[in-house]
Amino acid sequence: MHTDVLVVGAGPAGLTAAAFLAEHGVDAITVTKYPGTAPTPRAHITNQRTVEVFRDLGLEDQVREIAMPAELMGTNVWATSFAGVELARMMTWGRGRDRQGDYDSASPSQMCNAPQNALEPVILASAQEREADIRFGTELVDIVQDDDGVRATLQRGEDGTTYVVEAKYAIGADGANSTVASCLGFDMEGTAGLGSAFTVWIEADLSQYVSHRPGALFWVAPPGTNVLWSAWTAVVPSNEWNALFLMHEFLPADASDETVAELVRAGIGDPEIEFRIKHIGQWQINQQVSAQYRKGRVFLAGDAAHRHPPANGLGSNTSIQDSFNLAWKLAYVLKGLAAPELLDTYHDERKPVGRQVIDRAIKSLQEMEPLAQALGLRPGQTAADGWANIDELFSPTEVGAARRAQVRKAVRLVDHQLNCHGVELGQRYTSRAVVDDGTPWPAYTRDPELYYHPTTHAGAYLPHVWLQHGTEYVSTLDLVGHGRFTVLTGVGGQAWDDAASALSAETGLEIVTRTIGMRAEFDDALGEWAEIREIDDEGCLLVRPDRHIAWRSRGLADDPLGTLRTVLVSLLGRP
Ligand code: FDA
Repeated sequence: MHTDVLVVGAGPAGLTAAAFLAEHGVDAITVTKYPGTAPTPRAHITNQRTVEVFRDLGLEDQVREIAMPAELMGTNVWATSFAGVELARMMTWGRGRDRQGDYDSASPSQMCNAPQNALEPVILASAQEREADIRFGTELVDIVQDDDGVRATLQRGEDGTTYVVEAKYAIGADGANSTVASCLGFDMEGTAGLGSAFTVWIEADLSQYVSHRPGALFWVAPPGTNVLWSAWTAVVPSNEWNALFLMHEFLPADASDETVAELVRAGIGDPEIEFRIKHIGQWQINQQVSAQYRKGRVFLAGDAAHRHPPANGLGSNTSIQDSFNLAWKLAYVLKGLAAPELLDTYHDERKPVGRQVIDRAIKSLQEMEPLAQALGLRPGQTAADGWANIDELFSPTEVGAARRAQVRKAVRLVDHQLNCHGVELGQRYTSRAVVDDGTPWPAYTRDPELYYHPTTHAGAYLPHVWLQHGTEYVSTLDLVGHGRFTVLTGVGGQAWDDAASALSAETGLEIVTRTIGMRAEFDDALGEWAEIREIDDEGCLLVRPDRHIAWRSRGLADDPLGTLRTVLVSLLGRP
C-alpha cells in the first residue's frame, strides 16, 4: 500500500495534520491504535492561536459550541475546598480588567475551554468531510526509512493482522510514548519522569459553589489531607470536573479508587454533594523536547516532540500549531511548488517553540510554591496546623497583614501561567522560509512572556486588526491563510499586486492579493492597520499559508516582479 504521507496518531496533532493535508488534496493515511478519539477530557485550555487555526478550517463556530466560552473562564480560585474557605483569587486568561484589552485586540478569536474528548470529534469530522483516510484500531508496530521513503508495519486491533504502508513522508504524532521516535532513534533533550500525577474525571453538581465565580480552573488544598493543590478543570461547567493531583511523598503511590474518592470528597468539602468518578488516569511529569523535529523523511509533531506538564495549558495548543506549520510545507513539496529543503524549516521554526513551552510549564509549576508558602499550606502538616495558618492569614494583626501582602505578590507570579499571552501568541520564526528585510526586530516594550508584541517583521505572525469590507468587519487574518500565499499592499501598492499575479501565472503558485487602506477594498476605517503595519502605503507584506510573514518591503521596489520572484525562490528553493 502506498501513500504520500503516513500520519501516526489521531490526537490533536495527528487530526489537525490529517485535516490540513486533506484540505491541500494530499494523499495521506492517518492511523491510531485506539478505537476512537480521546475518551477523557485531558486538554481544555484552547488559546487564540489555536482557535485561529480552527478558523482557517472553518471550524471556529463548531468548536465554540462544545466549549466553555472565554467570558466564563476567567475566575481562578484557590480554596480549602469548593465549600470551604476561599484563600486567593485572580482573573485569568485575559478576563481581568487589566488584560482584557490585550486579549481582545490581539485576535479575532477568543480563547475557550474545550475538553479534548469533545474537541477531537470536531477536528475528526472536519478531516473526514475533506475525505481524509483515518484508520482507527491500527497500531504502528515498526517503522524504517531510507533515502526514498518510509516503510511502516501496521497492525489491526480487531484481528491482529499486519500490513505494510510505504509513504514518501511520515509524521509521528503518536504522543509522549512515541513509537515513531523510539523506532527511528529521535533523541530527547531534558528529563523524563520528574514526578507523577493522576487525574480524576468527576461528575458532581458544584454549581452552588461556582456559579457566582465561574472559571476554567478551581484549585483546592484541604488542610490535613496532604494534597498540595489539586487543580480542578471545568469539563462541563459546574457539573463535570477533571481534577489533577500531583503525587508526592505524603500521598499513597497507588491512587486506589478508595484513596481517590476520599481526596475528591475532601476537595468538594460538602458531604451532601454526591459525586461519581468517571475515570482515573495516571501520567508522568516530563520536561523534554526532541533534539530533532525532522529525521530524513520523518517528522515529530505534538507530544511526540515536546513533553511537559499541563501548566499554562500549552500541550494540545502547541501540537495543533505544529501541524499547521508542517502541513502546508509537505503539501507544497509534494506538489512540486517547493524544494524538499523547505521541510527543514519545520524543525528550525517549531523546536524553539517546543523548548520554550517545556521550560515555561516546569517554571510555572515551580512558581506555585511561593503561593503555598504564603498561605502556610504544605503537605505533611496536620489539619490543625493548616487551619492555624489560615486563621493567622486573615487575622487583624501585623503578621496577618504582611502575609496577605505576600499572598497578593505570590498570586501575581501565577500570571506567568494563567495570563501568559506572549507565550501563547508570540512565536517568531527564523528560518530559510522567512526572508529578513535587514531591519531589526522591534524591542519588547513589556515582559515578552506576559504580553504579545505584534509586529510585521518577517517571521512574525500577521497582526490582527478589524477592517471593513462592504458592511462586514473582517480580520486581517481572514485575508490570508487557506493554504495560499498572500500579498498585502496598501493604497498605491498596485504594482505589487500586478507582480504577484504575473508570478502566479509564471509558477503555478497561487498568490492572493489584497489591498488594505483608507477607503480601499479592505477599509482601514479606524486607521489601526496604518498604526501597526510598520510599512508604508506602497509597501508589501508577503504572508505564508500559516499566517506568518515571509517577507516585507517598506515601500515600492524598483522592480516589484523581480524582487518578489527572488524572495519566493529564496523561500521555496525553486524558480
Ligand atoms: P495524543 O497523546 O493526544 O495522541 C496520540 C495519538 O497517537 C493517539 O491517537 C494514539 O492512539 C496514537 N498512537 C500512539 N501510539 C501509536 C501507535 N504505536 N500506533 C498508532 N497510533 C498510536 N494541553 C493544552 O493545550 N491545554 C490544556 O489545558 C491541557 N491540559 C491537560 C491536562 C491534563 C491532565 C493532561 C494529561 C494533558 C493536558 N494537556 C493540555 C496536554 C494535551 O492533552 C496533550 O499535549 C495533547 O493530547 C497532545 O496531543 P498529541 O496529538 O500530540 O498526542
